[in-house]
Formats: sequence, structure tokens, C-alpha cells
Amino acid sequence: MNDILFYSVQLYIDSLNQLSYVEDEDVLNHMEDYAEKSGFPIVNRSVGRFLYLITKLKNPKLIVEIGSGYGYSAYWFAKAIDSGKVVLTDYKPENLEKAKEYLGKSGLLEKVEFRVGNGVEIAKEYKDVDIFFFDHEKSKYLDTVLQLKTNLKSGGLIIADNTLWHGKVLQENPDNQTKKIKEFNEYMFSSKEFFTTLIPLRDGVLIALKL
Ligand SMILES: C[S@@+](CC[C@H](N)C(=O)[O-])C[C@H]1O[C@@H](n2cnc3c(N)ncnc32)[C@H](O)[C@@H]1O
Repeated sequence: MNDILFYSVQLYIDSLNQLSYVEDEDVLNHMEDYAEKSGFPIVNRSVGRFLYLITKLKNPKLIVEIGSGYGYSAYWFAKAIDSGKVVLTDYKPENLEKAKEYLGKSGLLEKVEFRVGNGVEIAKEYKDVDIFFFDHEKSKYLDTVLQLKTNLKSGGLIIADNTLWHGKVLQENPDNQTKKIKEFNEYMFSSKEFFTTLIPLRDGVLIALKL
């Protein structure tokens, strides 16, 4: 598929989202506008809806995000989780303050926990995690899964954003960061401990089931 066709397919999927009813449209629009104006990288609504759907199907008790920013991806997890919690992590307290504001407006504060610091280290405190969501430094994904896989339940999921890295994974001589993402993807697909696929939504969402 050429670049223009791939981009048009993404736009088509994004346009379909507008037909769907969402309870917190104002809050979501606000978060999305803020991302656009400030250039803050969040998953988009198509990926958010995917996270929501997976959460509904899985009925998890514990989701830990590594790299939550101001809570957009966490919104979709928290909205979908029935009884359980979503742990948000970020280095920057101001991001999590903002997340608290947005998730508060959506009535989701009872389902979330905010932890400032290195999400990888914080995540190690949680056992039997149902879903880890990776959206931190892309070059650290492989190291992170190696450190956290024992904290994931059998039947639990790793979901990792940006695994197509703007299509750079296709380049013949990729930069170091892209090489690291490719190493992560290849590790996940070749590991006997996981069953993995990669959904070409937006910038690529890898999803792996721990066997
Ligand atoms: C791509 S943004 C997250 C966006 C968010 N997941 C969303 O879609 O709404 C990445 C965030 O991760 C944070 N971050 C990067 N490395 C981290 C780490 N090791 N631990 C905690 N936060 C980290 C950054 O401060 C930034 O806010």
C-alpha cells in the first residue's frame, strides 16, 4: 500500500469515529484539541476506541500504563474497565495533574491511581497485571518487556503504541531508535512466551498475549 493510500485509510477510519456516540465528547474534544495545539503526542481516537474494546473484551482488574501523559489513553481504559483500576505513570507531575482534572470531569477518579516517576520501576511493584500499555521512550520497549513480563498474568496483554514508527520500520538503514523498535517487534513475534500481532492503526499498535 503506498503512503497516500495508507493515510487515506486512516482518515477514513477516523471519520467513522465521528458517527459513534461517546458520553464524554466535550472532555475528549478538549483533550484532543490540547494535543493538537501543544503538539503533545497522544494516541488518537481510533486507537483509544481500540483500547476500550480490548478492555471490554478482557474484563481486566489491573492495567498499568508506562507513559500516561495527561491521561488520554487512560481515559479509554478507565471508561471501559468495570471493576478494577488503571495505574497512570509519568515522569512529569504536571502531566498527571492535568490527567486528574480531565478524568475527574469524566467521573473516573475512582478507577485510577496516579504515580509520578519512572513507570518501568513503578510497574514492578504490581503483580498479576492484566494489561501493560507501553507509550514511553520507544527505544526502551524491549528492555521494558524483559523487566516486566513476569509481572504480567498468563493471559495478560502487552499493548505497545508507535510500533510502525511513522513507517520508519520499513527503511533499509533505519536510525537507532527505529532499530530498537524493530528489535522489540521482532522479539515479541519470535518469543514463545507471547502470541503477538501488530494492528496498523495510526502509528501501529502491537498487541501480545502472554501464553
Ligand atoms: C506519548 S506520551 C503518552 C501519551 C498517552 N499515553 C496518551 O496517549 O494519552 C509519553 C509520556 O510518557 C512520559 N514518559 C516517558 N518515559 C517515561 C517513563 N519511563 N516513565 C514514566 N513516564 C514516561 C513522558 O513524560 C510523556 O508524558
